[in-house]
Amino acid sequence: MAKTVIILGSRREGNGQYLANKIKDRLESKRIISDIIIPGNQKIYICTGCMDCDTKGVCDFKDDMIDNIKKVENADTLIFITPTRWNLISGDLKIFMDRLNPLYTKETLKNKNMIAIAIGSSCKDEYSSDKALKSLTNFAESASMNVLLEEKFNNCLKFDDIKKQEEKVEKLLDKIEKIL
Ligand SMILES: Cc1cc2nc3c(=O)[nH]c(=O)nc-3n(C[C@H](O)[C@H](O)[C@H](O)COP(=O)(O)O)c2cc1C
Repeated sequence: MAKTVIILGSRREGNGQYLANKIKDRLESKRIISDIIIPGNQKIYICTGCMDCDTKGVCDFKDDMIDNIKKVENADTLIFITPTRWNLISGDLKIFMDRLNPLYTKETLKNKNMIAIAIGSSCKDEYSSDKALKSLTNFAESASMNVLLEEKFNNCLKFDDIKKQEEKVEKLLDKIEKIL
C-alpha cells in the first residue's frame, strides 16, 4: 500500500494546513495512508553541520526527527507544502530538510517521489511563490528524488484565503489522486 508523508512548513492554522488536511482526507478515501508532519510544532534541534551523520548515518540529537525519519523512510511520496517567506521556503521547513541529511549518504531519499506546493500572498512575479517552489525542487534534485507535481497558490495572505480558490484546490486533489 502506498504511503505518503505531508510536511507542512507553516505552524499557523492557515492555508497550508487547510490544504494538508484536504490532501490527507482525499488520500485516505483512496486507502493511501498519510501522516502530516508540522516541524514548527515539534522539538527539532537545528543541524550544527558536524557532518557526523555522513559517517554514522544517524544524528546524535534525540528529538522528534527520530520518528520523522522513520516516517520518511517508509514513505513512497513526500508532499511538501511551504508558505512563501521572503520568496523562499519557511525556516521550519529548512530546519527539517537539514536534519534529513543522515538519509543523504544512505541514499534513502533517492527515487522517492516529491509533490511540491508553495502558498504565498503575492500575485506579482517578483515576490510570488515561484522561487519557494524552486527551493523545494532544488532539494529534490540534490536528494535525487522525482518531482511528480509542482503547484503554487497566489493571493493567499489571510489564513483562509485559499478557500476562495476551491476549484483550484479540487483540481490539485484530482491530480494528486491520479498520480499516486
Ligand atoms: C515572514 C513572512 C514573509 C513572507 N514573504 C512572502 C513572499 O515573499 N511572497 C509572498 O507571496 N508571500 C509572503 N508571505 C505571505 C505568506 O506566504 C502567506 O500569508 C501564506 O498564506 C502563508 O501560508 P499559511 O497560511 O499556510 O501560513 C510572507 C509571510 C511571512 C510571515
